Amino acid sequence: MITKCLFPAAGYGTRFLPATKATPKEMLPVLTKPLIQYGVEEALEAGINTMAVVTGRGKRAIEDHFDISYELEHQIKGTSKEPLLDEIRSLISQCTFSYTRQLQMKGLGHAILTGETLIGNEPFAVILADDLCENNGNDSVLKQMTEVYEKYQCSIVAIEEVPMDQTNKYGVIAGKLVDNTDDTYRVTNMVEKPDPKDAPTNMAIIGRYILTPDIFDILRNTEPGKGGEIQITDALLEQAKQGKVIAYKFKGRRFDCGSVEGFVEATNYFYEKTFQ
Ligand code: G1P
Repeated sequence: MITKCLFPAAGYGTRFLPATKATPKEMLPVLTKPLIQYGVEEALEAGINTMAVVTGRGKRAIEDHFDISYELEHQIKGTSKEPLLDEIRSLISQCTFSYTRQLQMKGLGHAILTGETLIGNEPFAVILADDLCENNGNDSVLKQMTEVYEKYQCSIVAIEEVPMDQTNKYGVIAGKLVDNTDDTYRVTNMVEKPDPKDAPTNMAIIGRYILTPDIFDILRNTEPGKGGEIQITDALLEQAKQGKVIAYKFKGRRFDCGSVEGFVEATNYFYEKTFQ
C-alpha cells in the first residue's frame, strides 16, 4: 500500500516570471484552483492521505493554502460565498500535510532526497504539480500507477509518447514490453533530456512516480548529471539496471502547466469541461 505522496515544490518557476516572483508556481490557478490542489486531489483519489511537501524560500503560501484561514472564514460565514471554500475544507480534513525545506536548488533528485525525512522507509508516490493530469472521471493517473505497483512491487514511472523533437524536455526511457497489452515496459535504459539524435525512444517520463525507498541511498550516491543537477532519472537508471523499474503508459491526458502554452491549454480544457 502506498500511503504517502511527495510534492517537490521548491523550484523557482522561472518560465512564469514575473508571476512567480512572490507567488509559488504551484499556487498558479487553473480556473479557481491552484495547481498543487489538483495534485493533492489526485493523490487522495489514489487512496493516499499523507502529503509531504518539499518547499523552499518564498513558498509559504502553499502551507497557508492547506490550512484554515480564520479571518476569511469568519468574514464569509453565512454569506453566499461560504460554499466556495467547501471543497478545500473537505480536502484538508481528509489529509495531513508535512513540510521540509530544500535549502539549495540542486535538482529534482536532490529535492526528493530532501523529502526522505518525511517519507521514511516505505514506497511512496511523487507528483510534480506542474504536470496536471486528468482522466475524465475515470481512474486518475496516480490511481492507475498504484495498481501497477501492486502488481510489480518496484518503482513505476508514468510515460507518454512525445514528438521526437521534444525529447530534450524530458527523461526518456527504453524498455521491453512485459505483457500483451502495450502499456507496461520493463525499463532497460533512461536518459535525462537527451537531444533527439541521442534519445533511445520518444517515450517521455511525466511528473508521476512511485519510488521504492532504496532510491534514497542511490540518490545519496548520485553525481550531478544533466545541467549540473542531481537527477532522479539517473538514480532510477540504477534500479532499472536490476530490472526494478516499470514504465507505464497511462490513460488520460497531461497538461504541461510548467509552460505558458500548456497552462493555457489546461485552462481552456477545464473551462470547457466546467462551464460549457
Ligand atoms: C523533470 C524530470 C524529467 C521529467 C519531467 C516531467 O524535469 O527531470 O525527467 O521528464 O520532470 O515533467 P523538469 O520538467 O522538472 O525540468
